[in-house]
Amino acid sequence: MKKSITPASRLRRQGSALQLLVARDEPAILLGGELHNSSASSLAGVEPLLDRLVALRLNAVLAPLYWEAVEPEEGRYDFALLEGLIALASRRKLHLIPLWFGTLKNASSCYAPTWVKTDLTRFPRTELVRGQPSHTLSLFHPEALRCDARAFSAVMRRIREVDHTGTVVMVQVENEPGILGATRDQSALAEAAFAGRVPEELMSALEARRATLHSDLAQFWAGSGFRRAGTWSENFGQGADEVFMAWHVARFLETVAAAGRAEHDLPMFANAWLVHGPGYLPGQYPSGGPVAKMMDVWKAAAPHLDLLAPDIYRPYFREMCSQYARPDNPLLIPEMSAGLDAAPRCLYAIGKHDAIGVSPFGIEDLTPDHPLAQTYALLREMMPRLTAAQGNGRMTAFLQQADEEDWTETLAGFRFKARTVRPLGPDRVPGGALLLSLGEGEYVAAGYNLRITFSSLDPATPTAELLWLEEGAFAAGQWSPGRRLNGDETLHGTAVLLGYSLVTLRFRVHTVQQPV
Ligand code: DGJ
Repeated sequence: MKKSITPASRLRRQGSALQLLVARDEPAILLGGELHNSSASSLAGVEPLLDRLVALRLNAVLAPLYWEAVEPEEGRYDFALLEGLIALASRRKLHLIPLWFGTLKNASSCYAPTWVKTDLTRFPRTELVRGQPSHTLSLFHPEALRCDARAFSAVMRRIREVDHTGTVVMVQVENEPGILGATRDQSALAEAAFAGRVPEELMSALEARRATLHSDLAQFWAGSGFRRAGTWSENFGQGADEVFMAWHVARFLETVAAAGRAEHDLPMFANAWLVHGPGYLPGQYPSGGPVAKMMDVWKAAAPHLDLLAPDIYRPYFREMCSQYARPDNPLLIPEMSAGLDAAPRCLYAIGKHDAIGVSPFGIEDLTPDHPLAQTYALLREMMPRLTAAQGNGRMTAFLQQADEEDWTETLAGFRFKARTVRPLGPDRVPGGALLLSLGEGEYVAAGYNLRITFSSLDPATPTAELLWLEEGAFAAGQWSPGRRLNGDETLHGTAVLLGYSLVTLRFRVHTVQQPV
C-alpha cells in the first residue's frame, strides 16, 4: 500500500455492526443520492445539481466516473472530471462515492473507451449465442481485465494525490455486473473454463461456510452430495452456470479492486441488480452478479470488496435489507427508488439494520418539498446519536409495505407494537419510523403514519404508560423540546402517534406496578 497524506475512510466493527469511519475517524452514515448516469459528464452541468443536493440536505453524492472519459486514448489519462467533482463536492462538504463505470455497466460495456470497443481481436466479447459477439466484453480474456485494472489504479492514485480532505469515502467497482441474455458466456475460452474443475479455493471457502450458506446455493450444491472435486456442472447441477459466472465476475472485480486499493486503500463495494421475483432466471437479471444467493461465492472470490450492495427498486424492501445486512456485510443501498417511500425506507434501513448508507437514484430530480429532505435534515442532526447506537441493540425501525400491517419489537426493556395508520396510496408517504433508546425508559421515535403502543416485558406487570412525551428537534445531537403532548395527542398516555408528515417525539415510559 502506498503511503499517503490523504485521509482514508475505513470500516470498523462496533458491537454487531460494521460502521463507516470517514476522514479523521469520524463515524458517519451516508445520507446520499445517486445522480443519473450522464449527469457527471460535464462539470458545468453537475455543479448546480450539487447545490440542489445540498438543499435536499444530503451529506453524500454517488456519481459515475466513466472509463471512456478517464482514458480516451490508451495510456493517456484525463482526470478533469474526477478532480473537478472532488473539488465541487469538497466545497459543499459532500462525501463523494465515485462509481467506476469500467468494463461493466448494467451487464454491458457501453462505458469502455472507443479504442476498446472497436478492437474485438484484443478485447473479445461475451457470446450469448456461440459465435455472436454481444455488447459486453468477455471477462475470460485477459486484456479487458488488465486494461480496466490499470485505468482504475490510475484513478485511485489520482484520488490519493489530490483528495487532501478525504472527500472520497468509498468507491463502487463497476456497476451491476454480470451478463444479460444468457446464463453464461459461450465464447471458446469461457467454455473451456466451464469444462474444467471448480477451483479448490472456492470449494474450500464454501465448505468453511456450509452452515450459513444461502439456502439456494446450498440446494444447488446439495444435489451433488456436496461434491468438491468436480466440474461446475458436477458440483452445482442446475445452478452451475450462475455459480460459474459469479466466481469469474467476482474475480474480475477482485483484481480491479485490488489494483485500486494498492494505490489508495478506500472501502470498496459492488452493487447488485436484484432478482425481481420467483421464476426469474439468471440472464433475465445479470448472471454472475452479487444477488443474494451468490453472495457466498462473491465473498470467497473478492476479499478486496468490503461489501455487496442491493439496488432496491421493488416493493420488497424489508426482505432485501435483511438478505444483505449480514455480520460480514454492512448494509449500503447505493440505489433505491426516489418516490415518497424513500423517506421511511431510509429510516428503516438505518434503524433496523444499521445501514452505513442510503441513496435514492436520480436524486437531482427531487425538489426540497420531497419528504426525504426533511428526513435527511433530521438524520443529520441525530447523527452522533445514531452512530453511537449502531451495533448496540439500541435502535429498531418499522416500515409499511402493505395495508394494515403491524409489528412487535423489543427494545431496551419494553415491547413496542407499531400499526399502520392509513392504507398505501400513490400520493402518500408509507408508514415508517426509527425508534431509538436513550436509556432508562426514554426513547425517540421519528417517522410517519404509525401508531405505536408499548407494554412491559414482565408478564406479571404488563401495563406500561407514558410518563411524558414531547415534540422537538435535534441540533448536532442535542435535543431541543417543543410542545408537550398529552390527552388526545397520546390517546391519554397510551400511544405514540406519528402523523402524515415527519414528526420527532421524545418520551418516557414506565411499568405500572403495585407497591410491595
Ligand atoms: C440501475 C443502474 O445501476 C443505474 O445506473 C441506472 O441505470 C438505473 N438502473 C436506472 O433505473
